[in-house]
Amino acid sequence: MSGLFITMEGLDGSGKTTQLEILKQNLEAKGFNVLLVREPGGSKISEKIRNIILDIENKEMHYMTEALLYSASRAQLVHEVIMPSLKQGKIVLCDRFVDSSLVYQGVARGLGIDIIKKINNIATEGLTPDITFFLDIEPKFALERKKQQKKLDRIESEKLDFYNMVYKGYKTILKSDGGRIIRIDANKDLEDIQNEILTNIENLFC
Ligand code: TYD
Repeated sequence: MSGLFITMEGLDGSGKTTQLEILKQNLEAKGFNVLLVREPGGSKISEKIRNIILDIENKEMHYMTEALLYSASRAQLVHEVIMPSLKQGKIVLCDRFVDSSLVYQGVARGLGIDIIKKINNIATEGLTPDITFFLDIEPKFALERKKQQKKLDRIESEKLDFYNMVYKGYKTILKSDGGRIIRIDANKDLEDIQNEILTNIENLFC
């Protein structure tokens, strides 16, 4: 498969969405054909699934239902959008991917990393990003930032304990990913973070 698949991970409030928007502009300025999608969502059907997952009224949702809905949304996005775009040689930027499920559902919800890996292998046919950036920010700062920004959705309304578990989850997968995930200090200036991301992407072409 040609093209390049780049994903961005981090706690809610880590600034990943802003970085991705700037990254898209920077890569396009260099002449690349870039597609930016978000998870859960990114396609018509996936966005509908997103609404069900994040609906603040769906309090009784079982954790396994949640995990399967994230992977269902992902399956549609991968097959309808990501794989065809990579085949066309595009750079696909994805705001969250399987790693989010590993840490949110696998670790923080306690379903276990292995079972979430299995479900997602089926959903994505094993599609793995070429490179992943983890924007590292302390859970208490992330939660504060998020609270200031907007009305919180069902997952974001979780408390600091949950954010701490998610953070621990990211640290766990960082140790075992074989170098695919690049940790970036998200406390730095927006511009410094972007430059670090661009340098790592340029290294992929060397
Ligand atoms: P996101 O769209 O990144 O939220 P925001 O744009 O507000 O930062 O993600 C929505 C929520 O879904 C977020 O709290 C993380 C959670 N999530 C999971 O729990 N598992 C997953 O697999 C994904 C992709 C997201």
